[in-house]
Amino acid sequence: MTDPTRPRVLYVLACGSPVARDVGRLVEHALRDGWEVCVVATPDGTKFVDVPALVRQTGHPVRSTYKNPGEPDVLPGADAMIVAPATVNTINKWAAGIADTLVLGLLVEGQGKGLPIVAMPFTNAAMAAHPAFRQNLARLREWDVTVLFGDHVMPLHAPGTGDRHLDRFPWRMALDALRARVSVGGQVS
Ligand SMILES: Cc1cc2nc3c(=O)[nH]c(=O)nc-3n(C[C@H](O)[C@H](O)[C@H](O)COP(=O)(O)O)c2cc1C
Repeated sequence: MTDPTRPRVLYVLACGSPVARDVGRLVEHALRDGWEVCVVATPDGTKFVDVPALVRQTGHPVRSTYKNPGEPDVLPGADAMIVAPATVNTINKWAAGIADTLVLGLLVEGQGKGLPIVAMPFTNAAMAAHPAFRQNLARLREWDVTVLFGDHVMPLHAPGTGDRHLDRFPWRMALDALRARVSVGGQVS
């Protein structure tokens, strides 16, 4: 049974994009909203995130690989997930049900458990033009994932210019979208 006195747990899942270096901003908003926050990064995501700062901010280890058989879980179970930045790679693999990173395993399993999940991709116009990516975003939406993508979220940038657009990634929007589906300490809609 859920303990109503314990804060609900948000997993922030960060993929391999330069905007992942600012994922602490999302953590800050989420902590302020009353979530207990755990950050999990993909192996490529760890090249961008500031692990010691996130450990200090969340009070939890930043995991990026599956535990070894028999090892205990080090994170509390998730009540909701935000994958931001979501890469083209992770979106496409997730939609195919591939679970070869811990982030993907959490997404595939979380979706199966019916957890509220928000996905906010960051990528350039060329990568975003691949038809599989567009199709997979549509499939995820059909499967009740909240996908934040398009000019109303953030206009696409030219290849090689991502570093110039990091400040425009709307971290707060991901939490507002999650809030529309679940109230902290309340019920999932
Ligand atoms: C410097 C650099 C920046 C990148 N930026 C992005 C990005 O913004 N969006 C994206 O979809 N992929 C980006 N990529 C490619 C991903 O990192 C690559 O597809 C990787 O396999 C993603 O792994 P992940 O989905 O497990 O995090 C970038 C790669 C590099 C080396």
